[in-house]
Amino acid sequence: KCYIDNIVKHSTIDLDKMAEPETYKLFLDKIRKMEVRADDIWVCSFPKSGTTWTQEMVWCISNDVNLQSAQEILPKRFPFLEFSALNKVSDLVSLFGDEEIPRYLLDSVDYVNNLPSPRFIKTHLPFKLLPIKLQQNTTNTKIIHITRNPRDAAISFYYFAKLFGLKNDFEQMCEMFFCEDDSFSFYWDHVLGYWNKRNNQNILSLKYEDMIKDLRSVINETTRFLGKNLTENQIEKLLDHLSFQSMKKNYYVNYDAVIEKRKEQNLISGDTLLVRCGKVGQWKEFMSPEMIEKFEKWERTNLAGTGLSF
Ligand code: A3P
Repeated sequence: KCYIDNIVKHSTIDLDKMAEPETYKLFLDKIRKMEVRADDIWVCSFPKSGTTWTQEMVWCISNDVNLQSAQEILPKRFPFLEFSALNKVSDLVSLFGDEEIPRYLLDSVDYVNNLPSPRFIKTHLPFKLLPIKLQQNTTNTKIIHITRNPRDAAISFYYFAKLFGLKNDFEQMCEMFFCEDDSFSFYWDHVLGYWNKRNNQNILSLKYEDMIKDLRSVINETTRFLGKNLTENQIEKLLDHLSFQSMKKNYYVNYDAVIEKRKEQNLISGDTLLVRCGKVGQWKEFMSPEMIEKFEKWERTNLAGTGLSF
């Protein structure tokens, strides 16, 4: 059972657009056996929860808000660990044409394995699929986990899927969240797998909604967690850099170049963007009363006694 099985089962997507399940399993195995370093910094999340925003914040804090150092495409400095497991090489070839395909896309695990320290690593894997050494916490490696109201994440996911030419309708996208029989994307299994370990010294649990409400406090909390110190001036600079408007026009993090390329190749259409709307509560305008009811029941059942709420 894997992510791909689930996506295929619950959507109308074309399997040809994804890597084969066998490839995925191979990568998962490589990831399980990976060496983990004490000074790695991992950002983990369920997709569409504000991962990119968190990555940029973590990178900038760790690099003393030297914004010059952030002028490098995000997946290169902060690679997506399982990227190559989810994307077909033939798709990358068509995307890059004659240009050389970057290593962080072609073999993301190998790229991560060979990065100099300190490494910054993004993953959407659930806790139980992380490298064994990270799960066992043999190195006290820092993990920052970000969650978001699943209703807004579902909307974000719905638009994001269009970037890949996936034709799910919104109701189908919501059904993917409700699915309970899959090891990767059972939503609560994923979220609670990290949340339940939030009191571990090496884990920081953040919420997208808190970043929207009070980014300064989240920056301060993350700075403390990372053992860094920022001046007031640096914090002001970072607040500006991480604002929705700045992120939206920041070429290094907004993936606009890839999106443009896919549009040129007629793989996607319309005004799909990664840094899209950046709001809390868009679901209130987006969901039918029946869907709202369904989400409420699903949340009530799964969050009882966990201490997590949205
Ligand atoms: P929306 O699609 O709801 O706008 P991820 O990086 O995990 O894929 O999450 C993407 C979501 O984070 C998108 O949500 C995106 O707009 C939002 N996001 C990115 N940068 C942001 C920022 N500076 N402020 C608010 N939201 C941001």
